[in-house]
Amino acid sequence: MKTLDAFLAESAVEPSLNDVIRRIATCCEAINQQLQRGELAGILGSAGADNVQGETQKKLDVIANDMLKEALQACPQVRGIASEEEDEVVAANLKGQYLVTYDPLDGSSNIDINSMVGTIFSVLKGQGDGPVSEQEFLQPGRDQAAAGYVLYGPSTMLVFSTGDGVSMFTFDPATNDWIQTVERVALAPDTKEFAINMSNQRFWAEPMQNYVADLLQGSDGPRGKNFNMRWVAAMVADVHRILCRGGLFSYPWDSRKPDQAGKLRLMYEANPMGMLVEQAGGEAWTDSGRILDIQPEKIHQRVPVILGSSEEVKCCVEYHQR
Ligand code: F6P
Ligand code: MN
Repeated sequence: MKTLDAFLAESAVEPSLNDVIRRIATCCEAINQQLQRGELAGILGSAGADNVQGETQKKLDVIANDMLKEALQACPQVRGIASEEEDEVVAANLKGQYLVTYDPLDGSSNIDINSMVGTIFSVLKGQGDGPVSEQEFLQPGRDQAAAGYVLYGPSTMLVFSTGDGVSMFTFDPATNDWIQTVERVALAPDTKEFAINMSNQRFWAEPMQNYVADLLQGSDGPRGKNFNMRWVAAMVADVHRILCRGGLFSYPWDSRKPDQAGKLRLMYEANPMGMLVEQAGGEAWTDSGRILDIQPEKIHQRVPVILGSSEEVKCCVEYHQR
């Protein structure tokens, strides 16, 4: 059983990148402690404000965001950060080599019902040592130096990739160590399970309507097999399940907000999860191309997302290409 520290010490990755990952893991231990105390810590409920995305912030969104911001600003390797909960990019240590983007608490509508949430992060290479600007962050996902998440579930897990496969670590509260529990994640190419918010069905574009209608027909329809459905309402938990046992996850475009490409954020959700899924052998697409090839235009940009088991994602994408 290898600890995170032993794993990082042995890895071929630059120590500076390992330091960034270690600091994120340590900060997530502290976020985990807050989550575990829940109501007792007085941290549930709304913070009484909206974020830049127009969503109501939970107290814990704000607390987790501030904790990560402080931890990363204290890291000499980090030049700048961008968070789903910050209006603009934030400078850290200008001589640092890395930029970090994060969703401090994904799935935060689950907080008040004691259900799964997570922290998602992406590490990009910095571009120089001048003032940090939004422009510098606008790099395609294929250039991520690392990506990962911490899932706060029945056990707390750290899952990340530095471009050579995906490892999973389980937090041991008895020793405060992260222990490697999956060496190299292999995402099953085929699946009989999908994750989508079905209540939005009538608002989707026709290809997505057709694809899901065929899934629902099961063994009586063109797919010739029955499908199961799961929806945790926390992308981090749905993606974790898919990395563990396969599946397809989608949050598609919908007609209620026609000018918004999707719900999920490219820089905090789609890119890091896209890297993990691809590194595990899966596929990550929008309705028209590979997520990791998108040239970002704005830090808070949203995209449609279709990711998971490679054959199932290809099948869903074919409906869009017909
Ligand atoms: O961060 C956005 C998010 O909370 C994702 O984690 C999750 O997949 C999705 O939104 C849930 O959306 P809905 O509220 O439509 O179920
Ligand atoms: Mn989120």
